Amino acid sequence: MGSKKQNQRKSNTALVCSHQRSGGSQEARRPRAPARPGASMTSAVVEDEAQFYTKAEKYWKDVPPTVDGMLGGYGHISSIDINSSKKFLQRFLREGPNRTGTTCALDCGAGIGRITKRLLLPLFEMVDMVDVTEDFLTKAKTYLGEEGKRVRNYFCCGLQDFSPEPNSYDVIWIQWVIGHLTDEHLADFLRRCKLGLRPNGIVVIKDNMAQEGVIMDDVDSSVCRDLEVVRGIVRLAGLDLLAEERQENFPDEIYHVYSFALR
Ligand SMILES: C[S@@+](CC[C@H](N)C(=O)[O-])C[C@H]1O[C@@H](n2cnc3c(N)ncnc32)[C@H](O)[C@@H]1O
Repeated sequence: MGSKKQNQRKSNTALVCSHQRSGGSQEARRPRAPARPGASMTSAVVEDEAQFYTKAEKYWKDVPPTVDGMLGGYGHISSIDINSSKKFLQRFLREGPNRTGTTCALDCGAGIGRITKRLLLPLFEMVDMVDVTEDFLTKAKTYLGEEGKRVRNYFCCGLQDFSPEPNSYDVIWIQWVIGHLTDEHLADFLRRCKLGLRPNGIVVIKDNMAQEGVIMDDVDSSVCRDLEVVRGIVRLAGLDLLAEERQENFPDEIYHVYSFALR
């Protein structure tokens, strides 16, 4: 309880304290306690749902369309992240008669396509991307290069409003974006993802986990949930947990990051 990690207030989506990202003052960088200690649901920390979403959209509109922008200044850890994700995913693509297919993947909260480029396009025949920030998807068209021709759809949409086409995807990858959805919207979205899976398909969530409870980040308008809260939402969505893994070799000062494979 109350470890250094928990007390350091870090951004959910972009890995590090968003005050640092936006060049905030030393005062703003001080470790702070969660706004409402003990909160375990987004309804306890999100005061105005409409504002929660519009503020996040505004925040991302001002972020440069670069790998560093996607990772809040932690662009240098992208390779560690991708290599671990590849290992995590490949066990499902390789194993036995029930292995996951490699026809089509969906990258959710895809940004400029950092994951699409290095993880999904090398493993899948086709990829669809969905993100709420139009400029990121526009940038993706050049950032992805030649291989980007295999991106079938660029959906500009909030995940809270997005329904994957039923029975369409072998893998639905959701990384560093769940904190931008309320609990209810996240559970609903995961339910729709389940319907979007092809036989033997999986949903992967990879994201920051709080030490305890739900922590609001007012700067990028996101929340960071603890492991139990995330597992609870997954259960509520009717998904089974197939595998769970903590990311290793990330900098000490950022949130713990976990991957979950679900079906
Ligand atoms: C931290 S970046 C992660 C990008 C990418 N997943 C990666 O790991 O490189 C968060 C992304 O989520 C997007 N985003 C924020 N709120 C969203 C929402 N409600 N629905 C869909 N995308 C959203 C942002 O535009 C941004 O591209």
